[in-house]
Amino acid sequence: MTCFFFELSLVNFSLFLQNYFSNMYMYNGIFFKTANFVSLCKVFMNINPLFNFTLNTIPNSVRNNSYCKYKYSSEVENAVNKQIESERNAAFTYLNMAVNFLHPSISYPGVGGYFMKMYEEELGHMKILINYQIIRGGTPILTFKDVDMIANSKITLLEAFNQALETEKKVTEQLENIIKTAEASEDYETADFITSKFLAEQMNAIHELSQHITKLNRLCDDMEALYQFDLKLSKEYPYSLKT
Ligand SMILES: [Fe+2]
Repeated sequence: MTCFFFELSLVNFSLFLQNYFSNMYMYNGIFFKTANFVSLCKVFMNINPLFNFTLNTIPNSVRNNSYCKYKYSSEVENAVNKQIESERNAAFTYLNMAVNFLHPSISYPGVGGYFMKMYEEELGHMKILINYQIIRGGTPILTFKDVDMIANSKITLLEAFNQALETEKKVTEQLENIIKTAEASEDYETADFITSKFLAEQMNAIHELSQHITKLNRLCDDMEALYQFDLKLSKEYPYSLKT
């Protein structure tokens, strides 16, 4: 049954891929043109009534019929799904910054590598929450809305780090809300999971970003100092563009 839910999630994931592969979908590793993919889903729906789902939602009758749930309220399940979406949003915010600073016309490879590392971390968080949702009998809902991926070449290093700090603070607040929701329904497992797996890391991320912001505030627009700042980051977070 878990595999079944995961397969449905893969279908939702394909919606996201649509943005990047110009009207093509991927399902089980195979690319389909939009029209072909919809036809494929219709075929599945006819074969098996369980596949009677819209492309971006799983029917409540399927979601609520999870007999393996123990003290896992729909409020907590929804909060975890909201967090999955937030981690995805954070990941793509950082990917956007990484692409921007790695671009040859801007070329801060150290900062680009730093944000690429953050992008990968957020994807990791998203995966941890998806796994947790499945373990508790919930259904991960992967809603892939449009994310503005246009590189903002005018963003300064200071602005980028400030934006990252705000993102991390928002993510932390949402994590705290999951804990509150879980405690209200006596779901101590979720409260402990979020606290131990995520909160300490959030505090470290906020601390690290704050340090960078303090340094950047000191450097102002000194190009040589900014070069040195980037060089230091490139040693700590080397990133290769090799394909
Ligand atoms: Fe995160």
